[in-house]
This record gives sequence, C-alpha cells and structure tokens, in this order.
Amino acid sequence: MANFATLKLDDKEINLPVVTGTEGEKGLDIGKLRAETGYITFDDGFGNTGSCTSNVTYIDGEVGILRYRGYPIEQLAEKSNFVETAYLVIHGELPTSEQRSRFSQLLSRHAPLHEGMTRFLTSFPRESHPMAVLSSALNSLGAYYPHLATNNHQRDLEYFEDASAIAISKVRTIAAHSYRVSRGLPLNYPRPNYGYCENFLHMMFSEPYNEYVPTPEVASALNLFLLLHADHEQNCSTSTVRMVASAGANLFASAASGVCALWGPLHGGANMAVIEMLKNIHADGDDGTRFIAAAKAGKGDRLMGFGHRVYKNYDPRAKIIKSSFYKALASLGIKDDPLLNIAMKLEEVALNDDYFVSRKLYPNVDFYSGLIMRALGIPENMFTVMFALGRMPGWIAQWHEVAANSKLKIYRPRQIYTGSPQRNFVPINLR
Ligand code: CMC
Repeated sequence: MANFATLKLDDKEINLPVVTGTEGEKGLDIGKLRAETGYITFDDGFGNTGSCTSNVTYIDGEVGILRYRGYPIEQLAEKSNFVETAYLVIHGELPTSEQRSRFSQLLSRHAPLHEGMTRFLTSFPRESHPMAVLSSALNSLGAYYPHLATNNHQRDLEYFEDASAIAISKVRTIAAHSYRVSRGLPLNYPRPNYGYCENFLHMMFSEPYNEYVPTPEVASALNLFLLLHADHEQNCSTSTVRMVASAGANLFASAASGVCALWGPLHGGANMAVIEMLKNIHADGDDGTRFIAAAKAGKGDRLMGFGHRVYKNYDPRAKIIKSSFYKALASLGIKDDPLLNIAMKLEEVALNDDYFVSRKLYPNVDFYSGLIMRALGIPENMFTVMFALGRMPGWIAQWHEVAANSKLKIYRPRQIYTGSPQRNFVPINLR
C-alpha cells in the first residue's frame, strides 16, 4: 500500500504523505501543500476533511460501528453506566473500583451550585430557552473557579480531574435548576446518596409534598440515553469545542461553545423535531402512511430521525435505545402512546420501502430518544439540554486532547475569497 500520493500541478509534482488510523482509515496529509505549491484544499462544510487525529471515538458508518476508546457501544450499554463510561471517555481507560468511587465522590461533592450561581439562574426570564441558560451558566463556572480556568493549558491540566468532575456534575444541577426556575417551582438540592441519574430526576421532579423516586427502569433509560450520547467524534459541537480550545481557552469556555453549537436545529435539535413530526401526523389523523408518501415525493417534510451523514446503516445507538425504551414505558405504566404507535408504523414502512432502502436511510438515535425523553416527563425544549448532558464527557475528552497536545497549533482554516475585487472608498455623499 502506497505511503504517499503524488499530486501533479502544472509541471510540479508533490508527494502527500498517507496518514493511517488504527482501524485502517486513510487520509492525505496536505499540511505542506500551500507552502510548496501556493494551493490550499477546498472542502465546503468539511465533509471530506480530517481536522485532527483522535484517540477517543471510532465510527464506521457503513457497517454501523461505534466504539468509545475501543469498547463497542453495545458492550458499554449492556455492562456499564453513564458515570463509568464518562470516566472511560475522559480518562481513556475503564476505572478501577477505587477510581470509580473517587470519581463518583467528586461528582457528589461538586453537585451543588455556588449560591451566587443559583441567584444567577433565578435571574433569567422564565421563558428563557434552557440552552441559552446552560451555555451561559457553564461558561460562568470559569468565574467561580478561576484557578481551573486560567486559559493556560499547562496550568488548567494540573486541575483537570477536578475541572472535569465539576463540569459533568454541575451541568446536571444547572439544567434541573433552570427547569424549576422556568416553572416558578422551588429548587431541589442534590442528594449525596443518589446516583447521577436519580439525582437529576429528583432535582427535576421532586416536590415539597412528594419526593420523586424513579423506578430502576426509568433511571436506567436515562442512564442509557446519556451513555449513548457520550461522544460522536468530530461532529459540529465537538469540532467547535476543539476549535475554541485550540486558542488556549479553558475547559468551561470551550464546553460552553459546544453547547451553543449543539443548540442549532441541524445538530442537537432533531430529537425535538421527531416529536413535532409525530404530533403533526397524529393531529392530521394519519397513521404515517400519507406522511411517508409526501416525504418520498419531496412534497412534505423529511422523515425526521431517519438518515445520517455518517451512518449508512442502522445507527447502533438507535437499536439499543429502542429496546430499553419499552422497559421504561412498561415501568411508567404507559401502554398505548399514540405517538409511539405512529413511530413504529413509520419505521416499519420506511424499512421496507425502496426509497429509504436504496438511499440507505435507517433510523438514527433521535428517532426514539425524543420519545424516551417525553416518557420520562422531560419538556420538549429541554431535549437538547439532555443531549448536552450526555455529550459533556466527549467534549471534555476532546478538549483534553487539544490542551495536552505539545505540538498544538491554533486551528485556523483558510478560505477561497469570492468577494469584491479591490475598490476605492466612496464618500457618503457620493453613494
Ligand atoms: N427523509 C426523506 N428523505 C431523506 C431523508 C429523510 N430523513 N434523509 C435523506 N433523504 C434523501 C434526500 O432527499 C436525498 O434524496 P435524493 O438523493 O433523491 O436527492 C438522499 O436521501 C440523500 O440525502 P442527503 O441530504 O444528501 O443526506 P445527508 O447525508 O446530507 O443528510 C441528514 C443526513 C441526517 C441531514 C438527513 O438524512 C436528514 O435530514 N435526516 C432527517 C433529520 C435527522 O434525523 N437528523 C438527525 C441526525 S442524527 C444526529 C446526530 O448523530 O448528531
């Protein structure tokens, strides 16, 4: 196998080294192209650009493979939980029992918010979008922990263990508190004896007159949802986190930028769009058949929760989430959800329809994740917040890769300028 490719430009030839990944993925290193030829590469939207090497996550979209640190997602979903998987994603190895209890203790210790931060949260208007609250509150953590957010990577890395536990633990409290504020409800403080997911559900749903105690099935559905979202290599928000980190920014600022990117409907908003779609189909008295026909004809909306830029096979996360979903529904006593019935019909029709099969359009993680959130009582405008809670370990791990890179260069893509050629300034009275 060649270890370089030769590019011929006019009468000049340049060798581009081949970079090979652990699983045989291949890329061409064009790092010296501009210096040697004056050309840059052009790849609108980065669809064919490897922006970095990374040890965190491996995806093979053709086959439907997802692995964190080498471990198949199916094994982690069956045998691990979100906290342990978060440790794995962040630190690179599964924790020993000592490391795992230390990590859990750190998460418990850092769960409560500074009272100043609580006042900050209660000062947002009630109708604020929870992603606006989450991104600003996460960034503000740097103000409460200035020694962890020095914007000097070497110093920030010294406190990485604490900073990463603070980020993971506090986003959960921030999310729950902002929900309570938006409803005008009293805040619930975290309980040191509760697990990560139980604590989140308690902070969301306990009332002074009624303690919310989730069933194990409900807690495990949430656990699974978060675990399945823990990382997904160089997607839009993760690339944003790395970009911001490459300028030397601290963990909280970099992760907050990831929340902003995730907020966009083309990225983190699809699980909400699935529910909207199912509600509209239901309101139209359709069982999904008419909707599918319109989607195929390009006359209606796309079938949300189907198709993926990377997966050209069943998204492995969708398979896993679907099976846990039924257990959670049974435990919540939900027997006949009309939206679920429509979702199942849509899936059945699409998986047997040549339009979807020939285009390799399969259910993605969002097809069922919105339904899970809905069954757990999470309001729709918080679905993307839930995605952010799950994605936090990935953002942290990817920030660490950038911060710990001794050869780090600021990420600075080039462009092809297509604006006006040089022209002379026109005084205002002549315009
Ligand atoms: N429903 C109907 N037709 C579709 C769909 C869909 N959901 N997705 C793609 N197509 C068709 C599309 O019209 C095109 O047809 P043709 O070749 O006749 O023009 C063909 O399939 C290829 O589509 P594309 O837009 O070039 O594919 P893409 O890889 O650029 O888009 C996608 C991927 C996820 C944006 C797209 O499949 C989509 O819009 N899906 C619905 C939204 C959704 O569920 N998004 C969540 C993604 S998973 C979240 C995550 O992992 O972070």
